[in-house]
Amino acid sequence: MSHDPALDPLFQPITLRGLTLPNRLAMAPMTRSASPGNTPDAAVIDYYRKRVAGGTGLIVTEGVGVDQAASLGEGSGAPTHIPLLHGERALAGWRAVVAAVHAEGGCIFPQLWHQGAFRVEGTGPQPAAPSLRPSGLWGPDDGYSTVTPDYIARVIAPTRPMREEEIADAVAGFARSAANAKAVGFDGIAIHGASGYLIDSFFWPQTNRRTDRYGGDMAARATFGVEVVRAIRAAIGPDMPIMFRFGQWKQQDFNARIAETPDELGVLMRALAEAGVDLIDASTIYFSAPAFDGSPLSLAGWARKLSGRPTVAVGGIGLSEGLFSSFRTGGAAVERNFHDAAARIAAGEFDMIALGRALIADPEWPNRVRRGEPTNAYVRDMLARLD
Ligand SMILES: Cc1cc2nc3c(=O)[nH]c(=O)nc-3n(C[C@H](O)[C@H](O)[C@H](O)COP(=O)(O)O)c2cc1C
Repeated sequence: MSHDPALDPLFQPITLRGLTLPNRLAMAPMTRSASPGNTPDAAVIDYYRKRVAGGTGLIVTEGVGVDQAASLGEGSGAPTHIPLLHGERALAGWRAVVAAVHAEGGCIFPQLWHQGAFRVEGTGPQPAAPSLRPSGLWGPDDGYSTVTPDYIARVIAPTRPMREEEIADAVAGFARSAANAKAVGFDGIAIHGASGYLIDSFFWPQTNRRTDRYGGDMAARATFGVEVVRAIRAAIGPDMPIMFRFGQWKQQDFNARIAETPDELGVLMRALAEAGVDLIDASTIYFSAPAFDGSPLSLAGWARKLSGRPTVAVGGIGLSEGLFSSFRTGGAAVERNFHDAAARIAAGEFDMIALGRALIADPEWPNRVRRGEPTNAYVRDMLARLD
């Protein structure tokens, strides 16, 4: 096998503010629950270093609990083993991860994550803190989803809606974590604004019924996310890029939508771009799926067109099955759809791709694809011994 020039668009650098990424390949954020005491250790360093040595230009870390009392708990991963980005030990751990990624020539952004309604009340590092929900709602209990009935029973009862001071406290927590990320040498900030977690629960009308300035039409529902971006921008200054992940699907319901039309999506995209986002990551299960009726354009394509910012496509790249179907079937075969991804980058539909399970299965994926060599299939059990 040999070099295929049709794949060259994947291997061109891209500049975002003061940062040049070596290529168009990002590692998608993937929770591992493998940082004991909420602190990344030597195994975490090796895990990320290996992916950069394998040719990935940008690591987006697993979700990192932001510096707010209710950011982590039971519900999504093991709260004692999800990393934080505050406290001396966690910061020292990240400093070593960042240094290892830089030594291999890669870039790294932490994904700042607040679980919002997903955190089971009374769990996590600060069990007494109330979980944060814009309107006290977790979401529908009959969504198309892989969450278990036992879990739903623990979270479904409505709680008190977030108070204004809790909103301000959460925004400030994101900003503190971003400032810490800058201090330990991260190259940019990734914000988790998808999958039904705190920021997304403001975007989603099912969980945001507020009648103040944080609720109502898309512009109002975007307000919390915009405040988070602005606070992060103020905390990190003008040079570091901010990447923002949004998506239609929710853990509570894979068929959920925050925007019914391109016009509605445009309101959110422009608000994020104006607030200071440099790279928009459109979370989908199949990267090339048309996002709206009447057009073949992908969600990352729409996001680019509507925001005027570079975008990242993700979902099923290099693999035959999407995320949830591979959880059900136990794996996914190799699929050479990365030619399609490269062609869409060349055509200006989107700018980068992110790889999730393909990089779990094969840390060498980028180098192998570049050299025209076969890559590994994904087997769900790989998650249990992620290294
Ligand atoms: C084990 C696992 C953990 C994940 N954790 C996160 C996470 O912490 N944050 C996030 O935004 N997405 C998370 N995702 C979603 C991925 O970032 C990605 O969007 C999804 O896997 C689709 O990409 P893929 O088809 O290339 O795997 C996770 C996915 C997997 C498989």
